Amino acid sequence: MTTVLAIETSCDETAVAIVKNRQVCSSIIASQIPVHQQYGGVVPEVASRQHLEIINQAIAQAFDESAMNWGQIDGIAATCAPGLVGALLVGLTAAKTLAMVHEKPFLGVHHLEGHIYATYLAQPNLDPPFLSLLVSGGHTSLIYVKDCGNYETLGETRDDAAGEAFDKVSRLLKLGYPGGPVIDKLAQTGDPQAFVLPEGRISLPGGGYHPYDGSFSGLKTAVLRLVQQLEKDGGQLPVADIAASFQETIAKALTKRAIACARDYGLNTIAVGGGVAANSGLRKHLQAAAAENNLQVLFPPLKFCTDNAAMIGCAAADHLSRGHTSSLTLGVHSRLPLTQVMQLY
Ligand code: KG4
Ligand code: ZN
Repeated sequence: MTTVLAIETSCDETAVAIVKNRQVCSSIIASQIPVHQQYGGVVPEVASRQHLEIINQAIAQAFDESAMNWGQIDGIAATCAPGLVGALLVGLTAAKTLAMVHEKPFLGVHHLEGHIYATYLAQPNLDPPFLSLLVSGGHTSLIYVKDCGNYETLGETRDDAAGEAFDKVSRLLKLGYPGGPVIDKLAQTGDPQAFVLPEGRISLPGGGYHPYDGSFSGLKTAVLRLVQQLEKDGGQLPVADIAASFQETIAKALTKRAIACARDYGLNTIAVGGGVAANSGLRKHLQAAAAENNLQVLFPPLKFCTDNAAMIGCAAADHLSRGHTSSLTLGVHSRLPLTQVMQLY
């Protein structure tokens, strides 16, 4: 058994967890959303300062909740890439300092590898290979998961990430930040067929479309044009219908690409990760399409879809059990392809 204390501060959640292999002993998530809401999005400098203010308290809480002590910890991990540099630095510095003081191995973890590992928290018997659909605020990718640290990107967005599209459309509809949960809730009361919006397919030079890549910036612009047109026509904006149609379009586009990819590569399981994995429209469409195609689709529990440290601890425990550790000179990276994750060890 490998037990890890993990810290996640890549964006706007200060999260600390203690994880024993794939079992969560404690998971503390202090969300900064109310702080950033007044600005309509995450302000990086404010995020760093908030992390700094509460990190020590969150670490103490993780020990309290698990009733564990330092003697039971085999390694200390923190997200080191990708994310907001100042925010990442707070968690990474805390983890390195604790590793030195308590003379424990230190590990830097790739945030997206964490989102992949979130699936294991509820499905401890799952093993690669499988297809991971990563849909977060910053990423939208189809990843062939071959083994711990061994990933191949098969498809991705050419511009906006799925979560980013939710956030931008929400701002457009004056629904606030973060957009995903608000649009998701509002969409339940709207008509998903009310408006036809573009799925964002990528044309190939020889004709046809790219099977796994997509684009969401055109969809966002189409919603903007629609809103402008409806406002010009006068009357009340059918916000719920717009939200439902937008969500339906994204959910269908992601479902189509994920199913095609899993079938083409002969992968029977699709594991979804990232904040947009919480979306009810995506869950509905992907589950139905997977059943039709005899595929298994797995969604992490809602609390492990959005950012948390349990998923980071789960990835770190697997690396540590294979003898992977990071140097104390490891720095943070605002961007780092998942395919280069083994450079961290
Ligand atoms: O994975 P995550 O917590 O952070 C990143 O790594 O980016 O994802 C945050 C994103 C935000 O864009 C948020 O609007 C979106 O996930 N999100 C959702 C839902 N809950 C969160 N998008 C759609 N439907 C939801 N229910
Ligand atoms: Zn994330």
